[in-house]
Amino acid sequence: MYEGRTAAEPGIVFGHENMGVIEEVGSAVIEPAASAATALCCPSTWHAGSARTAWVGLLGFCTTVNPGFAGGAYGYVAMGPWVGGQAEYLQVPFVDFNALPLPAGDEHEADFSLLADIFPTGYHGAELAGVRPGESVAVFGAGPVGLMAAYSCVIRGAAEVYSVDHVKERLDKAEQIGAIPINYDEADPVEQIKSRRNGEGTDKGIDAVGYQATSAGSSAAGGEQDEVPNIVLNQLIDVVSPTGALRIPGLYVPADPGGVDAQAAKGALLINFGKLFEKGLRFEPPVQRQELQRLLA
Ligand SMILES: NC(=O)c1ccc[n+]([C@@H]2O[C@H](COP(=O)([O-])OP(=O)(O)OC[C@H]3O[C@@H](n4cnc5c(N)ncnc54)[C@H](O)[C@@H]3O)[C@@H](O)[C@H]2O)c1
Repeated sequence: MYEGRTAAEPGIVFGHENMGVIEEVGSAVIEPAASAATALCCPSTWHAGSARTAWVGLLGFCTTVNPGFAGGAYGYVAMGPWVGGQAEYLQVPFVDFNALPLPAGDEHEADFSLLADIFPTGYHGAELAGVRPGESVAVFGAGPVGLMAAYSCVIRGAAEVYSVDHVKERLDKAEQIGAIPINYDEADPVEQIKSRRNGEGTDKGIDAVGYQATSAGSSAAGGEQDEVPNIVLNQLIDVVSPTGALRIPGLYVPADPGGVDAQAAKGALLINFGKLFEKGLRFEPPVQRQELQRLLA
């Protein structure tokens, strides 16, 4: 957003991975999650807790906090007038529903900071792709979100987790947490993964890169970034086996003033939809959603 790659207006206060200590509890708070001086971790997107989407656990898509849009967040383009946390004080709206009180002390402070966005986002990728024990997963991107997605697949019992990136330190970290590093500067990542699997694709795929994906060699060669916004989506469609599921926590936007072409500037990307259709790929495991609805009924 600060690079002008979204429709964010000047004056927006960023900061959506927030943690802090309660200074004052507002009068509208019904059941204070905690009292003054308690430390809180605040989810980056939040929910009033009353709309239909809350009942089915889709907390990123509140339809009441930000009229005309599904979802509210701190300091985030299109997600309401809520001010972000890169400030001395932060108002936490609907705190009854949207804050995690932390235990006293600062021993685990650095770990808790991951809970505002990065870890749940990565985990959500694995959850919505329906990653199950014994499965194989291709995770594109080994930034904070991709590493947490890969780690989430590992802790959910996936048998093989491929972590695709081209930044050595990030791939080393992926290997440390139990994933198989795939450097896309060395060869087509889809071919690398398939050749390790006797020509087969993976059960699941996660895009933790988003629309600022780059082609092989670009940053490693120290040159201009060669941005290819649809590359990871199409590689996912190629690498996931027929009837497999894919999930996209990586960011895609409906308006990108710095888009590589006129279509990308409108968020319109050319993806191999025919191939996706032919392979029967899924964006979400419907069974799990039904299970969730049943549990919440
Ligand atoms: N859905 C959500 O709620 C949510 C929350 C947080 C972040 N995000 C998005 O998730 C994405 C990742 O976030 P991050 O903080 O890890 O970003 P990051 O920029 O630190 O990491 C992205 C990684 O992708 C790698 N990459 C670039 N092109 C690639 C390609 N073609 N193939 C494989 N890897 C490639 C980069 O080298 C980099 O390491 C971003 O788009 C971010 O906006 C979404």
